[in-house]
Amino acid sequence: MRIGIIGAGNMATLHADAIVRSGRAQVAAVYAIDTQQVATFASRYGARVANDAREIFEDSAIGAVIIATPTPSHAEYLRLAHKAQKHVLCEKPVVRTRAEADEIAALFTGYPCVAAAGHLVRFTPEYKYLRQVIREGKLGQVGTIRLTRACGARKDPSDWHLDESASGGVILDLMVHDLDLLTWVFGPIQTIYVQRADHQGDLCHDYALAIAKLSSGALAHLEASWAEPPGEFYYAYEVAGSLGILEFDSRKEPTLVCVSRTDKQRVGRTPEVCSPVDAQLADFLDAIEKGQPPTVPLEVGLNAVRLALVALESAQSNQPIVVG
Ligand SMILES: NC(=O)c1ccc[n+]([C@@H]2O[C@H](COP(=O)([O-])OP(=O)(O)OC[C@H]3O[C@@H](n4cnc5c(N)ncnc54)[C@H](O)[C@@H]3O)[C@@H](O)[C@H]2O)c1
Repeated sequence: MRIGIIGAGNMATLHADAIVRSGRAQVAAVYAIDTQQVATFASRYGARVANDAREIFEDSAIGAVIIATPTPSHAEYLRLAHKAQKHVLCEKPVVRTRAEADEIAALFTGYPCVAAAGHLVRFTPEYKYLRQVIREGKLGQVGTIRLTRACGARKDPSDWHLDESASGGVILDLMVHDLDLLTWVFGPIQTIYVQRADHQGDLCHDYALAIAKLSSGALAHLEASWAEPPGEFYYAYEVAGSLGILEFDSRKEPTLVCVSRTDKQRVGRTPEVCSPVDAQLADFLDAIEKGQPPTVPLEVGLNAVRLALVALESAQSNQPIVVG
């Protein structure tokens, strides 16, 4: 499979490395705005540099495209993928606005090729394990859920993430993962209330806390932070049910600890290391080869964006919002 990549930054590099490791595909061509970055990227992966993104979408020898550019450009590249009828994997958040979410959802209804959203959390072993434990009822009735995702303050003033209109700040860029996780594992959200630190236009230290009441009756706390020490990145959860508590912290070893409510025993384990980026790519290629839906279809990513936009609205209005 010859894959074209739009973007040559952090995520594009992760995808390209996964493509090389897979031995099942190759990076055929790349397009990005930063010409110096794209030249280095292309020579590293032996890819052709496209002068325009359309060259990639219109190249009949390219079977699939990965979109790994800043969020506001995703919708336009998704339109091009649709026009060219290419298999496509688009980074999260898959679009920036509600209008784009509705438009892209309508456009891709009945799409005959694979359209996948880049939600790596769904390929991360500890989150997959949580879902399995909940589905098997091992924690009993779940009462509280704490989800944390935190990384270092953004230092580079030219970083597009620091433009709220582009990234949506920490809520759309980071909390979107845990909002998706929440509905994937625990079902629909009934109401959400979000408070965000007053960043006065300086998103370097953006920080938000959400309280979500689920239809199941459980209460979730979600923490999303760009305010950690430089270089820090961690994610964690704590889920408490009537039978036990499951804890995960990416900074600890073992990463997972299960606490039984009956005998208070603490059992720790770290799942086998398995790169979520590799698993996501394998899933994308399997879907293409077998003609089956991907594990995370584009509409899942669109729904996650809709939820994150409701969370953003709650933070802006300082009001709880009933999620429709
Ligand atoms: N799945 C995840 O866990 C995860 C993690 C980080 C970022 N992301 C998402 O991945 C996307 C890319 O983020 P990143 O961290 O790789 O960004 P980045 O800044 O590292 O790279 C962006 C790349 O896109 C290029 N670019 C910018 N505007 C463009 C345009 N209009 N057309 C073509 N190329 C353009 C830049 O030259 C650069 O090569 C974002 O949507 C981000 O939210 C996802």
